[in-house]
Amino acid sequence: MVDDSNLIEDHRELDVKLEKLRDIISKGEIDPVLFAQISKSLKRHIYIEEEEIFPSISERSNELRQRIAGLEMEHASIWMLLDRVEKEISVRNVEKSPKYIEEISSILVSHNEQEEDKVYPIISQNEKNSQKKITEYEVPEGWVCHRLRRKNK
Ligand SMILES: [Fe+2]
Ligand SMILES: [Fe+2]
Repeated sequence: MVDDSNLIEDHRELDVKLEKLRDIISKGEIDPVLFAQISKSLKRHIYIEEEEIFPSISERSNELRQRIAGLEMEHASIWMLLDRVEKEISVRNVEKSPKYIEEISSILVSHNEQEEDKVYPIISQNEKNSQKKITEYEVPEGWVCHRLRRKNK
């Protein structure tokens, strides 16, 4: 389990990278390497939250279960937008990518705020103990965020 401060740090790093990408994209260019880094980090972040952080928090109360469900819906939106940008980059037509990146950033503003205010502070001390680093996690091949798995829901 990662520490809440690691997750907050990860939010900040992603904000900086996304800002940089938006800047590049606003000039009509795209940086596929930077995008690939962002996409990989964001998906890893989502993976850690959905597999290691959210499940035990979600069980605590109905209110928290609903909050987590909302956050997972937003993860699904972010995930789909990342895939759309990736697809545009692969066919070298990034016409809608600026809009998609903009949408990702705008979802993340309230999403991250909610996690940092309402979810991360209640990660129990027990769960924080292992101190595994975010960079040590790898999203398993074929893993997709919970809300995008039709068969299991
Ligand atoms: Fe999240
Ligand atoms: Fe997060």
